[in-house]
Amino acid sequence: MTAADTPVPLTARRSPGLKGRVRVPGDKSISHRSLIFGLLTVGETAISGLLEGADVLATAEACRKLGASVTRTGEGAWRVNGVGVGGLAAPASALDFGNAGTGSRLMMGVVAGHGVTATFDGDASLRKRPMMRVLAPLLSMGAEIVSSAEGGRLPLVLKGSADPVPITYETPVPSAQVKSAVLLAGLNAPGRTTVIEAEATRDHTERMLTHFGASVSVAPHGAHGARIVLDGRPDLRPNPVAVPADPSSAAFPLVAALITPGSDIVIEGVMMNPSRTGLIATLREMGGDIVELDRRIEGGEDVADLRVRHSALVGVEVPAARAPSMIDEFPVLAVAAAFARGTTRMNGLKELRVKESDRLAAVADGLRANGVEHEVEGDDLLVSGLGRAPGGGVVTTHMDHRIAMAFLVMGLAADAPVGVDDTGFIATSFPSFVPVMTGLGALFD
Ligand code: S3P
Repeated sequence: MTAADTPVPLTARRSPGLKGRVRVPGDKSISHRSLIFGLLTVGETAISGLLEGADVLATAEACRKLGASVTRTGEGAWRVNGVGVGGLAAPASALDFGNAGTGSRLMMGVVAGHGVTATFDGDASLRKRPMMRVLAPLLSMGAEIVSSAEGGRLPLVLKGSADPVPITYETPVPSAQVKSAVLLAGLNAPGRTTVIEAEATRDHTERMLTHFGASVSVAPHGAHGARIVLDGRPDLRPNPVAVPADPSSAAFPLVAALITPGSDIVIEGVMMNPSRTGLIATLREMGGDIVELDRRIEGGEDVADLRVRHSALVGVEVPAARAPSMIDEFPVLAVAAAFARGTTRMNGLKELRVKESDRLAAVADGLRANGVEHEVEGDDLLVSGLGRAPGGGVVTTHMDHRIAMAFLVMGLAADAPVGVDDTGFIATSFPSFVPVMTGLGALFD
């Protein structure tokens, strides 16, 4: 599963004030997890609001190959009839996760805790990404690498253990994918699996474990961390999942409205889980006019409609401790920072180097191509905002959806149009990005 073989370039140009109400697609993290928990539960899991992006569809296909029946019953409505913890089938062919780090790494955890062997593969971007961060704890739980590319990278053949060992694991990097892989393997381990995070990351796996009836406890650890303890071998019970709108996708119309003069929009039903709202906190500190309307609970998550108006932004310092709660939002924050007055310093962006692309380098290149002054100091990014961006560049997206969307947002308010070399990968997380933005008044050609 890859984006179109032929690159699809697009240019964004200075647009009138954005106006209207939009709903962005379902959250990518919760969508992957809802399918995986459906696979690990006996009986029928009904999912509504599923993100029907390429990444999530790859996970759906992998669930089928591992024994689940997965069917689409309407727009965003899916049903999974799973096999239960311990019941995985050996897949007859390779599991191809396309561009998706989350799908592949979470499923490595699932396979590691079962007595099956599976081949994991993906596109050129996924094949470059580090996998040992996930494989190291899984090997200590009893899984084996049968073969892999250099350093545990894909393509990988992973042999799971029917009797995984419960472990206590302190994650060396702040990664919800690593935490989740260990917990998913721990589901089939007899006893308690513990994950300790120095910096707490998104908690969707923990919430979903509870939602499906597993016994899991979460306690604070140190200043910013968490200690998660899971009791193994639960009988997961089917429970419907309503996927809320993805804050990481909402980030694009949100920043677009803040930087485009005359804008006044509402983004509906955005998930406000505190482990995901670092961008909103930062943009508010920058002076962004973001008002929560109708805060409510939907599908077990806090959601709100966000009213966003064009704002005069100022530069701020973003603390490193906030990075995990906005890790996917730095490309679009860098765009907002260009339109702010003063310097925005984003600290502790090391993890950005191992995303769908080296996002720190890709963002810096995109800023340079569009005349925005900036500096990379170690793992920190400094953007010198002038309240405007010259634009006029064409940005290389490196198979990275968020690089493409961030710089298209820049073009809506820059002095000269901003082009991106390929929009094909936007379909991995936000297939309706262009129509949603066009509906608000964005100009693309
Ligand atoms: C995700 C975790 C993050 C994030 C990714 C989704 C998840 O990755 O960047 O888009 O759903 O667990 P890391 O775990 O590598 O930080």
